[in-house]
Amino acid sequence: MTAMLDISGLTASIGDKPILKGIDLSVPAGEIHAIMGPNGSGKSTLGYVLAGREDYEVTGGTVTFEGQDMLAMAPEARAAAGLFLAFQAPIELPGVNNANFLRTALNAIRRAHGEDELDAVQFLKFARAEMKRLSMDGEMLKRNVNVGFSGGEKKRNEVLQMALLRPRFAVLDETDSGLDIDALRIVAEGVNALRGPNFSALVVTHHQRLLDHLVPHRVHVLAQGRIIRSGGPELAKELEKNGYSAVLAEAA
Ligand SMILES: Nc1ncnc2c1ncn2[C@@H]1O[C@H](COP(=O)(O)OP(=O)(O)OP(=O)(O)O)[C@@H](O)[C@H]1O
Ligand SMILES: [Mg+2]
Repeated sequence: MTAMLDISGLTASIGDKPILKGIDLSVPAGEIHAIMGPNGSGKSTLGYVLAGREDYEVTGGTVTFEGQDMLAMAPEARAAAGLFLAFQAPIELPGVNNANFLRTALNAIRRAHGEDELDAVQFLKFARAEMKRLSMDGEMLKRNVNVGFSGGEKKRNEVLQMALLRPRFAVLDETDSGLDIDALRIVAEGVNALRGPNFSALVVTHHQRLLDHLVPHRVHVLAQGRIIRSGGPELAKELEKNGYSAVLAEAA
């Protein structure tokens, strides 16, 4: 089986502080993997490093995305190659219309693929259809990006962005946090709709509940900057029941 994403010995720092201390993780094409782990263990940092966010310095290791050296690619090139990151805390962009923002993101990717850009009318038609499918309110397109959105609305907006961009690899960082029961299902459906041989995802979550709707192939525990345990979906159930102490003690 070929890995879509292959992370090997990845270390990264913020300022002088080492956060990732040797991540080894391989996600085959077509698989959904979940990452769980205590607060502050480096889960979001891993997502940011994959997305190529500045301020995060990679100090060692490799990340290969579909055979390409991803760490050598600019953030926009990673997005064009099909990487998508849904943030734990989506940013608010006052003065930036949500529909324009989404269309710009989509058209940048289409351009990179040599596809025609969508004009405003074509985009709205496409976006409204996706929103209907995800049971989302079309009103959200008219507002400024995330400004005044409730916590759950911001997360839904991330899912909409993912549905429109149709990434090959999605990193969802606690996209389930703060969601009501229906929205949780929408997030899971948003991911499940993309499932296929050419789609993989890393889903960061603190709750086993999401994984009932979004059954992962593998579950990894990230603690203190390392993957300390991996298993099947039953690992998430075990953690929910017993907490992290046993797994942490085992790894110490
Ligand atoms: N800009 C920063 N400056 C200093 N330390 C930082 C910075 N950003 C993150 N950290 C530290 O890096 C560590 C890992 O943070 P990260 O956000 O990756 O954790 P996490 O696993 O996503 O936690 P959570 O489950 O709470 O979201 C934490 O100790 C955090 O305080
Ligand atoms: Mg986090």
